[in-house]
Amino acid sequence: MTIRLNYSITAMIVFAVAVASGRNNCFRAVSAFTPTLTTTVRNQHHHSTRTSVATTSIVAPLNWNHHQHHQQRQQQQQQTRQMSTTTSTSTEETTSSPDDEPQEKKKKKPIRPERVLSGVQPTGSLHLGNYLGAIRQWVDFQNEDQFNDDGDVVPVENFFCVVDLHAITMPHDPKDLQESTLSSAALYLAAGIDPTKSKIFVQSHVPAHSELAWLLNCITPMGWLERMIQFKEKAKKQGESVGVGLFSYPILMAADIMLYQSTKVPVGEDQRQHLELTRDIVRRFNDLFCKGNQYKKRCKAAGVPSRPVFVEPDAIILKEGARVMSLTDGSSKMSKSDPSDASRINVLDDPKTIRDKIKRCKTDAIPGIEWDNPDRPEATNLLNIYSAVQPTKRTKEDILNEVGEMTWGEFKPVIADAIVNHLQPIQDRYYEVRNDPDALNEILKQGADAANEVAERTLLNTKVAMGFNIPPPAQPPASK
Ligand code: TRP
Repeated sequence: MTIRLNYSITAMIVFAVAVASGRNNCFRAVSAFTPTLTTTVRNQHHHSTRTSVATTSIVAPLNWNHHQHHQQRQQQQQQTRQMSTTTSTSTEETTSSPDDEPQEKKKKKPIRPERVLSGVQPTGSLHLGNYLGAIRQWVDFQNEDQFNDDGDVVPVENFFCVVDLHAITMPHDPKDLQESTLSSAALYLAAGIDPTKSKIFVQSHVPAHSELAWLLNCITPMGWLERMIQFKEKAKKQGESVGVGLFSYPILMAADIMLYQSTKVPVGEDQRQHLELTRDIVRRFNDLFCKGNQYKKRCKAAGVPSRPVFVEPDAIILKEGARVMSLTDGSSKMSKSDPSDASRINVLDDPKTIRDKIKRCKTDAIPGIEWDNPDRPEATNLLNIYSAVQPTKRTKEDILNEVGEMTWGEFKPVIADAIVNHLQPIQDRYYEVRNDPDALNEILKQGADAANEVAERTLLNTKVAMGFNIPPPAQPPASK
């Protein structure tokens, strides 16, 4: 415990120094960040093109004090994880070095920044779906080395956000919001998000999120939002009282992404449509406001670069095994909003609760446990979970050899143990972090400071593009 605490403090200092010494030097990444399959090993060079599907590696420890465990898991991921991405046509980021010439001609390519951004809502406690489907994936991104076409390792800048402004789009209880927010942030850290490598911050600590969301509200057609499946589903449940905030939720999400010129956004499959919408909004904004001589004049007068303000992000969608389904219905997603707590395993559930939930979870009357039988979604779900929480990579065959012939009664204690063992170290770290509020707040402050700096710059560029009067004391962004 002490060692870990010391580590966090050291980590904070290193992070603080990194932030203080300038945001542009230590987190930058290059265009060859390629988001799809994890199949290679450390120091193996990757060759890819900007829009192609290629390989990435998982390199650094999953958790700062669990090297060995990580290495095992790394092998596991290399074989199992399948990600997909939409293609993007990223434009340049606001403060990067000039990167306009054709890249092939240069010996040393200029560094093009790559940013990873994601967030989870701090409603209630996070469950296995949030963890396996999102946060654990972020940890992998954070820890991956990225290579450019010359084989140079290039760092990536990561932003992981607790999206508390999104959490109020459904009715919420003020007495819980603060605790859920801090608890989510603590879980990010416990799961292995490392503040020396990633910025962890709370969305509402960066006012530009709300402000950009308003600006984007005004340029987004209602029709685009009316098509959003998640809105339709959530609105159904709320009837007449459905809030405007829920309707424009995807615009706030677009603002989250766009403020950081994010290029890679790891999310669950259910967020794909929101990412597409974000890309549409980026294109619309750039088309409407970032073209022509008037735009160039406004930029010049304000001292900002006259390239398009926003970058189209890629969704990084984890496919296989990442969809963790409800324990009481293998065909619907594990969800915080399911009224039954027995439908999900929360990351902080104690061992007894986990065992009880598994004991009571839905099964079927068919003998044996098998994968991918459409009539047996519960079997597939539990096998996916079982596979995801293995300490070392195991093939499907290997797992089936072990458990395929078991009855549900035999399988249940086996999977319960595996989940308990997997979550134990995360829970230990969680309580360590959560019980040191000063350290946690400091990490969030450092994260928000760094985030604010980038976000404010984008917001200024946005306002210039839209033609707002910019008050004189506004700092021009770092000169190009
Ligand atoms: N809507 C996302 C979800 O429910 C959470 C989210 C908000 C998010 N803002 C984001 C995810 C920005 C990625 C990037 O999962």
